[in-house]
Amino acid sequence: MFETLKPLPPDAILGIMTLFRADQHPGKIDLSVGVYQDEKGHTPVLDSVKRAERAILDKQDTKTYVAIAGNALFNKGVEELIYGPNHPALRAGRVSTVQAPGGSGALSVAGHLLSRAKPNARVYLSDPSWPNHLPLLKTAGLTLENYPYYDYRNHRVDFDAMAAKLETANAGELVLIHGCCHNPSGADLSNEQWQALTALCERRGLVPFVDFAYQGLAEGLEQDAYGARLMAERLPEVVIVTSCSKNLGLYRERVGAASFVSATAEQSKLALANAMNVARGIYSMPPDHGAAIAGKVFADRELSALWSKELEEMRGRLNSLRKLLVLKLAERDTPMDFSFIAKERGLFSFLGITREQVIRLREEFHVYMIESSRINIAGINHANVDYVADSIAAVLR
Ligand code: LMR
Repeated sequence: MFETLKPLPPDAILGIMTLFRADQHPGKIDLSVGVYQDEKGHTPVLDSVKRAERAILDKQDTKTYVAIAGNALFNKGVEELIYGPNHPALRAGRVSTVQAPGGSGALSVAGHLLSRAKPNARVYLSDPSWPNHLPLLKTAGLTLENYPYYDYRNHRVDFDAMAAKLETANAGELVLIHGCCHNPSGADLSNEQWQALTALCERRGLVPFVDFAYQGLAEGLEQDAYGARLMAERLPEVVIVTSCSKNLGLYRERVGAASFVSATAEQSKLALANAMNVARGIYSMPPDHGAAIAGKVFADRELSALWSKELEEMRGRLNSLRKLLVLKLAERDTPMDFSFIAKERGLFSFLGITREQVIRLREEFHVYMIESSRINIAGINHANVDYVADSIAAVLR
């Protein structure tokens, strides 16, 4: 039967990771997949994570199943992180959360739950968005449409165009919004824009579906939650998916969560029961190891303080690399003004160069990025930034 299957093009992001790994050139530079790297180009295990992991391994005396909803300590910690411990929706019992295998697993659970609650529901995705949003939500049975988001010419969010499109959406339709560190553009909504968007959703009866995979990597854990918290306070229903891949560096452990704000505590119980039933029908139970680590880091005062510091260091490094890259490119006197990169946040920015220039960078200079010209800022360091800037300047000439 497998002869009936069609060959596929490589994945837009993981395909570049494969090409990078196959390149034997010693000076190759990876600005592709969204994984944090330190100054040495290494993706470290955080100290807070190591310590929590050791404590768990020492104590753990069984590997029996945990629960369909996952690790309770983790779910509580994630809720406090997303909403803040005293959020009115939490206090009213209107929030239910299930742990899921990574942010993608969380998107899948949320997508299937939405489909069940509202068959073929329409979800508006930002143009552009993370490419995997589309297959994940389509497989869940949702109908997808775009709203304009990134203004490539002016390197900023085109909020007026976004709002104009969403004004045409119907009540009950969903708007997928990146909570912070927009992937792929790095251009985030300002607090004023979050307020305006919340008011729009309220007026039009739209349901926000917030992908919050990068909390803590833009301005801080609290600051980054401004929009998600506001929406959860003002609107009856909100869906929030999150991940500990990036902010805790737990990538391969697959730690994420899907959280649902319902109109009433009664409906919240229904959302939880159905989300668990959805999960049971996909993977039955989420993996525990990474979630147990994250749960411990959140709950333990000392570990959580250590984690905050480590996160601050990652965030600070990203933001200073942004400035450094802008400076180095300006020194090369390129025909383009790259200053917008310093204003964007998180791991990603578009360089705004052509696909042909991206391919030249890869083939001639061994500098790898996504073909949309999305770069991972964390792949830059003090040892390679001059080479990166020289290479970009060379393809622009
Ligand atoms: C990315 O956008 O590069 C990351 O989220 C990794 C992935 O799975 O695509």
